[in-house]
Order: sequence, then structure tokens, then C-alpha cells
Amino acid sequence: MGLFGRFFGRNREPVLDPADLSVLGVDVHSHLIPGIDDGAKTIEDSLNLLAEFQELGYKKVITTPHVMSDYYKNTPEIILKGLADVRAAKAKRGLTIEIDAAAEYNLDADFEPLIDADNLLAFGDNYVLFELPFIAEPHMLNSIIWKLQEKNYKPVLAHVERYAYWHQDWEKIAGLKDRGVFIQLNINSLTGHYGPEVKRIGEKLVDNNMVDLLGSDCHNLNHMGLTQRARTKSHLHKVLSSEKLINKKLSFEPTSY
Ligand SMILES: [Fe+2]
Repeated sequence: MGLFGRFFGRNREPVLDPADLSVLGVDVHSHLIPGIDDGAKTIEDSLNLLAEFQELGYKKVITTPHVMSDYYKNTPEIILKGLADVRAAKAKRGLTIEIDAAAEYNLDADFEPLIDADNLLAFGDNYVLFELPFIAEPHMLNSIIWKLQEKNYKPVLAHVERYAYWHQDWEKIAGLKDRGVFIQLNINSLTGHYGPEVKRIGEKLVDNNMVDLLGSDCHNLNHMGLTQRARTKSHLHKVLSSEKLINKKLSFEPTSY
């Protein structure tokens, strides 16, 4: 590869020196509890992934197993039991990175009763991570946002850039901000891993200073490799310099549940 290629890559994008992810401190979206969703399969997987996060400079991960009707019927008890097992194994391995757990709630029929019952795993200052179906915008979106806020939760919408039904509807995304929804961007979206449109929207969120939280959405070692690649992207450099990123304000200390 010639000089031009090295600095601009295949798509004439600038290729920067790898960004320092330690400025984030805390990752807020991943699937590291073994065997309870489509993330880590074994405790060994969990430890290998945690070692990678530590190597990247993170001090803590708040892992977020899926809670989804029909597929991943995870309860706080299941998640926290898994967390305790990972913490014990992590201590034996001598890893210094901390791990906490919350959840990634799918906006399906089972979500509303959990909000009503105050049976949610939140993180930080009562943030609740939730995701939408990828097929179509759910009709309950507005009422669920309102309900979360009424219960004093702070709704964080996972990987806002990944919902194809909003790719030509920027006003919808901008409207979420107006209603107090916190925007979480997947770091790996900036690599083009989820497609060019997802990358475009991710970059637009960065350019409009709309990103509140960054997440790896790490399920496996392949995702960690993508995060490594994302470090050379100019938009990652740009978003990491944002003072509004909530990741930077989250405590590094482990939470005791
Ligand atoms: Fe996720």
C-alpha cells in the first residue's frame, strides 16, 4: 500500500493513529455473562473478552445481557448470579478490570410490566438501556419512554443508528433527543460493520454532537477486533473528545447489588 493508501484507506477516509479508549473509562453495552444470551458462551470467553477490554484501557465494563420475550427470559436474579460467577473467575485470573451488570431490554410486550413493577436493572444515575425491534418502529415507543421517565428512569436507546426504518427519517432521531432520550452509539458502527447506512447515521450523530453514551456491544472476540479497527476512524476521535459523554462520568468502582 502506498503512502496515499496508508493515510486515506480504501474509501479515501483518513486513517488516524489509534484513539485512546482509556479516556472513556467505562463501557456500557456488552454481552459478557456466559450462556444467558447470544454473547459469551463460556466463562473462559468472558475472561478473554474482559482481558481485551482491560488491554484497551477500560477500567470497568457494565455488561448488559439481553432481556427479550421468547428468546432471553433473563431476570435480575439470573443476571446477578452470572455476574457473581464472572467476578469470582476474574479475581482468580488476576484481571484488574471491574465488571457490573445492567441489561439491554427489548421493547416487547414483556417490557412494560417490568417497568410497572420497578423490576429493572439500571446503571449509573438510573439509566436503563433498551433496544427496539429491527423490523419496524414499535407503536408503544412514545408511551414506554414516558413511562420510564415517570418512574424516574433515564431511558438510553441502544445503537440508535442501527434502525433501518429511521435511516431516511432524521427527524425521528432528532425528536428522541427532544423527549429526553439518551443516545447510545455502537463504536463498531463507525467501521461499517453493520453496513454503510448505519455508518452514515452514526457519523451524523457524532457530527451533530448527539451521542450521550458509547458502547462496544461486544458479543465475541470478532467484535473486539472491530473495536480495534474503529480506533483509527476520525469520527471515533471526534466523539471521544466530547465532554458530554456520560461514560466518562460513570464511577470506576464496582457496584454491590
Ligand atoms: Fe446489545
